Amino acid sequence: DCCTPIKKLCWWHGAGSTADFQKIIQERCDTYTQTIRPGSRSRNCQAIRQAFMSTFISKDPCKATKEDYNSLINLAPPTVPCGQQVFWSKTKELAHEYVKRQRLMTLEDTLLGYLADGLSWCGEPGSSDLNIWSCPDWRKDCRTNYLSVFWEVLSERFAESACSTVRVVLNGSLENAFDSMSIFGRVEAPNLRPQVELEAWLVHDTGKPPSDSCSGSSIRKLKSILDGRNVKFRCMDNLSRDQFLQRS
Ligand code: APR
Repeated sequence: DCCTPIKKLCWWHGAGSTADFQKIIQERCDTYTQTIRPGSRSRNCQAIRQAFMSTFISKDPCKATKEDYNSLINLAPPTVPCGQQVFWSKTKELAHEYVKRQRLMTLEDTLLGYLADGLSWCGEPGSSDLNIWSCPDWRKDCRTNYLSVFWEVLSERFAESACSTVRVVLNGSLENAFDSMSIFGRVEAPNLRPQVELEAWLVHDTGKPPSDSCSGSSIRKLKSILDGRNVKFRCMDNLSRDQFLQRS
């Protein structure tokens, strides 16, 4: 056990909680509900911040469960209008650039995704503070840490709510554009509802040849996951970053 009660010896392998975590959550929530999506103004940011803190404060940072996040997610479910949903995997920056130019939304455009984007958080038993020194790493410490479980359960709810046509932006410069161990592969694709249609876009670095295509084995694996759920599938490949962003 790498975590002893003597604080500075309590050493996980991941980055510690983001400085001013509570303040950032409150400020982002105010910005989102007042400026970015004024339609969501009725949401109570103080209650959301408090619900977020109580999911993990004073708890063993390796014992997160999906249920810990239920009440928080129920305060602000990650749903978006039909046909506007965009998933991504190994293409975070590109997908965000893409949705900015269209009337489309990623998970980070929903309230909870926006609040938590890029932040880190964990607590420790017997303390009411965040651990600013270190938090558990998915690989080296435990998979059931609060950060990983948060993105998994939020992504699951996001995928379950999908309707009509949804898109995923995949990285065509990788040998396997579809990674069945990623959140998109493990959590989102397997939770799409029947009758939803998924459009995959394989986008590679401008000026380089693509490394994977719609007929490659990784995309065939994605197709088989979707076939099993009666989800329709279309795939577009051989697009450079510039071509993809220009046509969008
Ligand atoms: N900020 C910080 N970390 C994040 C964020 C975020 N906004 N979203 C996801 N993460 C974490 C997750 O643990 C994820 O596994 O970073 C990892 C990103 O890994 P990738 O392999 O690039 O993508 P993937 O695992 O497929 O996750 C992205 O899941 O979060 C959803 O809707 C989102 O479709 C997207 C997919």
